[in-house]
Amino acid sequence: TTHKPSEAQSNDDSGPGDLPANSAGARSARRKVYAATVAAALGGLLFGFDTSVINGAVNSIQSTFSLDPAILGFTIAITLLGCTVGAWFAGQLADVWGRRPVMVLAACLFVISSIGSGFAFAVWDLMAWRIIGGLAIGIASVIAPAYIGEIAPARLRGGLSSLQQLAITLGIFLALLSDAGMARFAGGADSQLWWGLDAWRWMLLVGVIPAVVYGILSLRIPESPQYLIRRGRKEEALAVIANVTGAADPEQRYKDIEESIESERRSTYRDLRGHAFGLQPILWIGIGMAAFQQLVGINAIFYYSTTLWQSVGFSQQDSFTTSVFTATINVLLTLVAIFFVDRVGRKKLLLAGSVGMFIGLVAAAISFAQASGSGTNITLPAPWGPIALLGANLFVICFAATWGPVMWVVLGEVFPNKMRGIALGVATAFNWIFNFLVTLLFPIMSHAVGLGFVYAGFAFFAALSFWFVKALLPEVSGLELEDKSKLTRR
Ligand code: GLC
Repeated sequence: TTHKPSEAQSNDDSGPGDLPANSAGARSARRKVYAATVAAALGGLLFGFDTSVINGAVNSIQSTFSLDPAILGFTIAITLLGCTVGAWFAGQLADVWGRRPVMVLAACLFVISSIGSGFAFAVWDLMAWRIIGGLAIGIASVIAPAYIGEIAPARLRGGLSSLQQLAITLGIFLALLSDAGMARFAGGADSQLWWGLDAWRWMLLVGVIPAVVYGILSLRIPESPQYLIRRGRKEEALAVIANVTGAADPEQRYKDIEESIESERRSTYRDLRGHAFGLQPILWIGIGMAAFQQLVGINAIFYYSTTLWQSVGFSQQDSFTTSVFTATINVLLTLVAIFFVDRVGRKKLLLAGSVGMFIGLVAAAISFAQASGSGTNITLPAPWGPIALLGANLFVICFAATWGPVMWVVLGEVFPNKMRGIALGVATAFNWIFNFLVTLLFPIMSHAVGLGFVYAGFAFFAALSFWFVKALLPEVSGLELEDKSKLTRR
């Protein structure tokens, strides 16, 4: 590495090249980094909220527009296609416009989509607004890891990047509570709440509030140094490096970043080409991480939990309580990841997570395989209901403490500077494609082969994810993004 040693490193927890951790400059830098991270991570809250909020509204939407199940399923899954498109283009947009304006764009799309879907008068209308919402979610899902990865100092990067997942899990949790609260207030999701509007419309409309906050905060955060340097805006870049990232020697950091970007030319999709089946090996690794995070079936739990537990014989109330419980451990265990990610390293956490998820999923699969009945009308004989519940929650615990956040951390840091925006966008788009596939296929497959087999499939992917991380993922914790671009360009 090209960092100059500084006396800063001697007796505090600052990393190489950082200001001494207890100096006034470092404290002020830390405050600014935290504030900027929280603003960017709010995009994650909207990601979680807007993907889950539809759950509470689903039945009312079906009855309001008299939809058959296929159209209903499509109305829900179509958001995820919007996410794919949004993610795909977000990286490129962020390289052209800068990270900040893209966040503002996402915030505007979030607002438009919430208002539009809240007032939707027909199902095609609703679909259109939900696609726009999907674009916003997709953009937010790329821009948060990109931006946080770039402004955070190396030693804090994993923890700060994990804040986006914390925000996602909070968003899921809030959507669940907000939906339930409004349904209860109104006396049913399709009863009128305020101003003659049905409760389900309000469920969608309240998304406007976090979206506006996100937009306002995005206007107030600094642009990322990597972007500024690429655009040749040296003064601004140096100011951000000195005041926000807390580097002891801003000029040196500036040079490191500049070198790693190498050329003035913006990278294009062409630069993703390489010798490994037509792509750069590192891009395959990113896509693999993104795919595995979905293929273990996390959203089969979050998008379907209430119906899942009802289908194995839980009462409606118990199913709801279970969903709230699961959403809560999802939030809490993300905190565990935040604590460990920079201390233990990414790979170890992911490997431990794969093992734990595998065990939980196998337990759930064996339990579900004991079910009698078919489709959504099944019952589990005596001890198997609780075992399924334990298995599924062990799975969520292990996911939340590892793969949930760490996948986003890895995507934010594993690509060389030059291609980060665009590669992150492509890999994240794959995360959404696999999310879409699992979401669409889960009900169909459960019906066709039974829940037991479907969960065995998820367990299989958990096992495969272990091998993938062990064999292919490079460890980059603690390295500045500039150093590790050398490490990963193999
Ligand atoms: C991750 C996944 C997302 C999932 C969430 C659950 O962020 O990418 O699809 O809903 O975790 O906490």
